[in-house]
Amino acid sequence: GRPVGVALLGCGVVGSQVVRLLTEQADELAARVGAPLRLVGVAVRRPQRHPDVPADLITTDAAGLVAREDVDVVVELVGGIEPVRGLLLTALKNGRSVVSANKALLAEDGAALAAAAAESGADLYYEASVAGAIPLLRPIQQSLAGDRIVRVAGIVNGTTNFILSAMASTGANYAEALEEAGRLGYAEADPTADVDGYDAASKAAILASLAFHTRVTADDVHREGIRDVTAADIAAARALGCTVKLLAICEQVEGPAGPSVSARVHPAMIPRSHPLASVSGAYNAVFIEAAAAGQLMFYGQGAGGPQTASAVLGDLVAAARNRVIGGRGPRDSAHADLPIVAMGDT
Ligand code: HSE
Repeated sequence: GRPVGVALLGCGVVGSQVVRLLTEQADELAARVGAPLRLVGVAVRRPQRHPDVPADLITTDAAGLVAREDVDVVVELVGGIEPVRGLLLTALKNGRSVVSANKALLAEDGAALAAAAAESGADLYYEASVAGAIPLLRPIQQSLAGDRIVRVAGIVNGTTNFILSAMASTGANYAEALEEAGRLGYAEADPTADVDGYDAASKAAILASLAFHTRVTADDVHREGIRDVTAADIAAARALGCTVKLLAICEQVEGPAGPSVSARVHPAMIPRSHPLASVSGAYNAVFIEAAAAGQLMFYGQGAGGPQTASAVLGDLVAAARNRVIGGRGPRDSAHADLPIVAMGDT
């Protein structure tokens, strides 16, 4: 069939892996999609920094790229709110499907993006925005669509988990561990987003919104990072048979006035016998508890270029295949308007 045109916005740790896999696996991907995937352009800020990308694909004009007639799917790996929000809203309104790993944007304004997609009939996929390689949003949106999720909790930030693991296992100091996480491509461009819990809070907001069919934004999430966790805290936890992990916890709470949602991110002491205690390095793990399914656990690499690119390509294949067969991706299921309770209210 006619090629599916792909525009890539951003070509850093994850984007460069997406370009590599698109090239190396072109034939397999074409077979799965039912048409070739054609990369029509890669928008970047600094063109000279991308020697591995064919020069004729590189542009600094993201808006111009998104507006091209031959673009069917926009893959956004830039991050941050503006100017990406405007670009993606325009793309969706014009019927382009969007694949995004942008947790900050999804957590702040996912509702507007979902509305634009619903209106034009385009797809909006963002599996890569939460927990890197781990399939998590599709299971919540689709596999568990017939169940009632009551709790989603786990480790959703690789950088802080890498730092806490290093501090616990080798007594490494915080600054060294953070630098190493950056070198391995786990940390955000601004690592305060990791260590102060903003990254995990965005992910918690996305998870809570999907799990409870409501809208939770990052601002709704009680947030405490790992900056104040000391070697002494970790030693004290160890003396109690525990380990320190940064947890994201989203719960539906039944109160006298009806159900509400609580979402929070904070360091927690976990018994060393608990499965989450053995999740180390850039691995993430998330427990989902649902009324009928019971407890489910998802585990895998939550950060890193190839890992996150795997989730991006999964979304891209789905969006492209929908173009070919005339299908549609998951619709926004936010029909509940649940009050969000702060910590301590519960
Ligand atoms: N900085 C994030 C992390 C990348 O460390 O988990 C994946 O979202």
